[in-house]
Amino acid sequence: MAFPERFSNLPDYAFPRLRKLLDSHAPGGEVIHMTIGEPRHKMPDFVGPVLAASLDGFASYPPNDGSPGLLAAIRGWIKRRYHVDISEDRLMALNGTREGLFNAALAVAPERKNGQTPVVLMPNPFYQVYTVAAVTTGAEPVYVPATAQNGFLPDYASLDPALLDRVTVAYLCSPANPQGSIASRDYWKTLLALAEKHDFVIFADECYSEIWRTAPPPGVLEVAQEVGADPERVFAFHSLSKRSNLPGLRSGFVAGGPKGVAQIRKLRAFAGAPLPLPIQNVSQAAWEDEAHVEASLALYQEKFALAGQVFAGLQGFTLPEGGFFLWLPVEDGEEASLKLWRETGVRVLPGAYLSRDVGGQNPGKTYVRVALVAPKEEMQRGLIRLRDCLYR
Ligand SMILES: Cc1ncc(COP(=O)(O)O)c(C=O)c1O
Repeated sequence: MAFPERFSNLPDYAFPRLRKLLDSHAPGGEVIHMTIGEPRHKMPDFVGPVLAASLDGFASYPPNDGSPGLLAAIRGWIKRRYHVDISEDRLMALNGTREGLFNAALAVAPERKNGQTPVVLMPNPFYQVYTVAAVTTGAEPVYVPATAQNGFLPDYASLDPALLDRVTVAYLCSPANPQGSIASRDYWKTLLALAEKHDFVIFADECYSEIWRTAPPPGVLEVAQEVGADPERVFAFHSLSKRSNLPGLRSGFVAGGPKGVAQIRKLRAFAGAPLPLPIQNVSQAAWEDEAHVEASLALYQEKFALAGQVFAGLQGFTLPEGGFFLWLPVEDGEEASLKLWRETGVRVLPGAYLSRDVGGQNPGKTYVRVALVAPKEEMQRGLIRLRDCLYR
């Protein structure tokens, strides 16, 4: 049997690669996991009661696009957070942002552009689903370096105009995984203007929007409104995974222009897996409540402060503006991860597992990614061991 070639160039996913690198070696101490971006703060107290009161919902097929209550709650949250009124027909419930970032590309990205093979832009390093979405839509993924030199945000405007004319979708993650950089209002404005000029859409991956260090990150929806951008240019993806510490709920949404969201809804009516109604009810309660988000944010801010103390004075170290990763410079990310595991039992991810080699340059190769998700004391122990092993 012949399998399609489409995904033949995909490397193994980051975590199997990490297991291959580390698991044949014994840990050098108490094992501390700082690899995966799985929030470990407390989930909100209301999850259990809302779920228990909604069990009947498992007896029916759920509404595909999102229940009226869920869509109204999302609309309300966008209004409070970004001061933008996005009508319900411009929203679609998702099973978390990962599948949405993939499936929305299938729904809206054309297979050809101006008679040419399309291009999908993404930062390098990047969240890995972007490249699979690009390839699936028949596009050429173009990896644009997001390095210390450009504030860890890709400079899409510097690309060749002929290439930009082939772009169908540009992914941008803010706060960025892995570097924690935040797109400023000006950055979004430039990107919106570029999208208009070269006729492409922006997929804004904002799933870390509620985890920040000094100020809430500006959202693409508010900047688009401010500059009067065509609403069809922008799709914003949000999630309860990080905001509400509910990665297992599998719940998020996309907000876009009415035509784009209608296309996404249509494809999902054929091939989507709608969220079970009880999950939609829990999600509604989560989008309606801010207290649990504030409590979790306060904990992350304490963790940022602790990380700042541990790495104070370390050359090349900067605290991230948002998200919950440290992106630490090392000589070689794989060697550093292995050394750290063998000498201390602390597990981190080599940066190159999140990036691609382009023209012999791999912007993740000299970094490790460290997730600040473990409980505070455990995290602090892990960071101190990491510092003493890799930097002293
Ligand atoms: C940058 C980024 N985007 C999207 C996701 C997907 O999150 P979820 O599908 O849980 O909403 C993640 C999860 O780690 C992420 O780091």
